[in-house]
Amino acid sequence: MPDGAAVPTKWNEIRQRIADSQRLAVMTGAGISAESGVPTFRGADGLWRNFRAEELATPEAFARDPKLVWEWYDWRRGLIADCAPNPGHMALAQMATKVPVLNLITQNVDGLHELAGSTDPVEMHGNIWKVRCTDCGQVSADRRVPIPILPRCDGCGGLLRPHIVWFGESLDEAVLARSFGAFEYADIALIIGTSGVVQPAASLAGLAKRAGAYVVEINPDATPNRALVDVTLSCAAGAVLPHLVPL
Ligand code: OAD
Repeated sequence: MPDGAAVPTKWNEIRQRIADSQRLAVMTGAGISAESGVPTFRGADGLWRNFRAEELATPEAFARDPKLVWEWYDWRRGLIADCAPNPGHMALAQMATKVPVLNLITQNVDGLHELAGSTDPVEMHGNIWKVRCTDCGQVSADRRVPIPILPRCDGCGGLLRPHIVWFGESLDEAVLARSFGAFEYADIALIIGTSGVVQPAASLAGLAKRAGAYVVEINPDATPNRALVDVTLSCAAGAVLPHLVPL
């Protein structure tokens, strides 16, 4: 929105709905971090050496060529290490202080919500700054950039992998329960910066809608969610979210 321009009426209406909300559920995808400089998965800059995420983020790809998969993650870690939260992340952290309950569920693994001050975001797909031993299962924080390839477990010497949920793997039960619960019992749901094609995250907008929530999508591009939500704000998350924080 240009400086000095009036805030659209719709934005003010949504801000008021948020101010009146008892249980707000928020889902974020790669789009919220785009303005921080993190490439989205399905955008023009999402390809790495011509591989799509679906070709690298799988247990099969890791079993076949762990070096290649680690090189991709090392590239993403390097990019993300240089990125800071943007006004969209900051607005969500602030919003949480203005409503009784805000459940923040993210598909992102970049850790930027926590850096912005959001407490306890549910990271459905894990966190790129954590690693897990493929032998002993130990999970630990690891912020090395670059990470030595192939990284090894301090405890048992086993091969480490990113602590990320890959295609074909199951999500953690507790994470699933929290995510579904947040959207089933929300009075307002915000669906921000996700293409809405990766399950089960993609089903949460519909779940909230069927359960009677007012559902707002924020995404400059068309997605399958557009047909089912109450309103789509076709804007960059960082431009609109600061205006939706209750006063
Ligand atoms: P995608 O890359 O599929 O979609 C990003 C969405 O953000 C697109 O719909 C864009 O139009 C939108 N977008 C871009 N810039 C935006 C902005 N400034 N503000 C708001 N929206 C913007 O990313 P996800 O839907 O998050 O999984 O992808 C889902 C999962 O697929 C990821 O979590 C990842 C990937 O494989 C794993 O890593 C396991």
